Amino acid sequence: MKTILITGGAGFIGSHVVRLFVNKYPEYNIVNLDALTYAGNLENLKDIDTKPNYTFVKGDINDGVFVNNLFDKYQFDGVIHLAAESHVDRSISDPMSFIMTNIVGTVNLLNSARHIWKDSFEGHRFYHISTDEVYGSLGKTGFFYEIYL
Ligand SMILES: NC(=O)c1ccc[n+]([C@@H]2O[C@H](COP(=O)([O-])OP(=O)(O)OC[C@H]3O[C@@H](n4cnc5c(N)ncnc54)[C@H](O)[C@@H]3O)[C@@H](O)[C@H]2O)c1
Repeated sequence: MKTILITGGAGFIGSHVVRLFVNKYPEYNIVNLDALTYAGNLENLKDIDTKPNYTFVKGDINDGVFVNNLFDKYQFDGVIHLAAESHVDRSISDPMSFIMTNIVGTVNLLNSARHIWKDSFEGHRFYHISTDEVYGSLGKTGFFYEIYL
């Protein structure tokens, strides 16, 4: 049975991703890691929160030790990373929280994935859902390539 970590699963997009995975893949364990900032709301997931393949963990991806322990405990097969500071206007009033969550938190998750996958990436995937501020702009055509470890 595969175990998939979804970060930011109490947020706008993440809650839909969590619901889709929990319902569509009953053979997968889905772990939703979210710090429940002002942007997260578990009411978004009331309809699936008692499903046997669903676990919610409240925690902060900026805490590297906590993230490492979580990866050690669950031995995730894959990661779908949506936890972010996503409201661009707030980056002017509070830039440091963007640096921490969007950069340091992401690196914490990447480091922990490398740690448990031991540089063997067969069957493992790390998807980072982000924005054009991170990936750069596209022209009128084209697409971004999947990035994986
Ligand atoms: N919503 C959009 O229209 C849109 C468009 C393009 C790209 N995106 C990108 O998709 C991703 C998800 O967007 P969204 O709209 O669902 O965001 P959101 O702000 O609704 O949700 C973010 C979630 O991350 C959680 N979170 C924040 N900091 C955390 C931390 N340190 N540790 C753990 N959890 C934390 C919040 O509690 C929240 O539940 C972001 O990277 C965003 O930039 C969103």
